[in-house]
Amino acid sequence: MNEKNQSRLNDYASRAEQYLLQILQAMQQEMSEPQAENLFLAMKHSLTAGGKRIRPALIYAFCEACGGNLIQADASAAAMEMTHTASLIFDDLPALDNDDLRRGKPSCHKAFGEATAILAGYGLICEPFRMISADTNLTAEQKTKLIRILAEQEGSSGMVGGQMLDMQFETETQIDLPLLEKMCLAKTGALMKASCQMGCLCGNGTEIQVSAAGEYGLALGLAFQIVDDILDVISTSEQLGKPVGSDAQENKTTFVTLLGIEQAKQRAVELTQKAHETLNQFPDSEFTEFLHELTDALLVRMQ
Ligand code: IPE
Ligand code: IPE
Ligand code: MG
Ligand code: MG
Ligand code: MG
Repeated sequence: MNEKNQSRLNDYASRAEQYLLQILQAMQQEMSEPQAENLFLAMKHSLTAGGKRIRPALIYAFCEACGGNLIQADASAAAMEMTHTASLIFDDLPALDNDDLRRGKPSCHKAFGEATAILAGYGLICEPFRMISADTNLTAEQKTKLIRILAEQEGSSGMVGGQMLDMQFETETQIDLPLLEKMCLAKTGALMKASCQMGCLCGNGTEIQVSAAGEYGLALGLAFQIVDDILDVISTSEQLGKPVGSDAQENKTTFVTLLGIEQAKQRAVELTQKAHETLNQFPDSEFTEFLHELTDALLVRMQ
């Protein structure tokens, strides 16, 4: 990524960070009972542990690529990061992937216990809907559309459904490539798709743009999961901030087990190409150029 785009990515990430901190502060004030303090601390622990903030960056960039202002995208960017963080808290639980490290820190259940981690995830799933509906920078129509997309892509026909398939596949031996891709499009692609589409809606993009952003998000999301599967094999936990070898330990069928590393990389390259093509629906601008560069950077990421 060139310097200008790297600094744009950093700006998007710190903007999301600041908004999240404000929301956390407001949540803390609402939680007046001292017995509930751990719930807040657990949400804060996972939210501020230091994720890459890719989904907020996509929301901001698509909003700007459609001609919108960042302020229109703030609530959605924070909402998506909360949703994604909740999905990670649940993903790490002993009943799912059973991982002890996340974003370079003990996973939520390791630090706070399972019950509090479950409730923290639950809290992080509710807050996005409150936040978007209460935002004063969006029209009622925008809010309705945003909430609908978030709920659809997060729920049983999106991320949650994908996580269910991921879990079921642990005990099945006959998982082929189309089925694996279907599962990953749901568990990872759906929230990426929602991020890109929500960004367009915040920026009042056209229907054609919302639809192209959805295609982009799915292609990028699948490539992102392929790279995640590869990194689980070739990276280190210091670099990733999460355990490596977790997939093998949990008996997952992954792009690496089905294709091997080289062919898996090749599939990610193809999907990256497809993602670039879908960006044709957006006018040439520094924001669209940023999206092209981000797409390539995520393909070769090491963390
Ligand atoms: C991890 O997502 C989960 C997957 C969908 C592969 P990220 O790699 O975006 O995690 P953070 O947000 O940077 O921690
Ligand atoms: C998780 O996929 C995707 C989610 C919906 C959370 P992984 O289980 O591969 O994610 P990591 O590797 O734990 O981050
Ligand atoms: Mg998982
Ligand atoms: Mg996992
Ligand atoms: Mg993984």
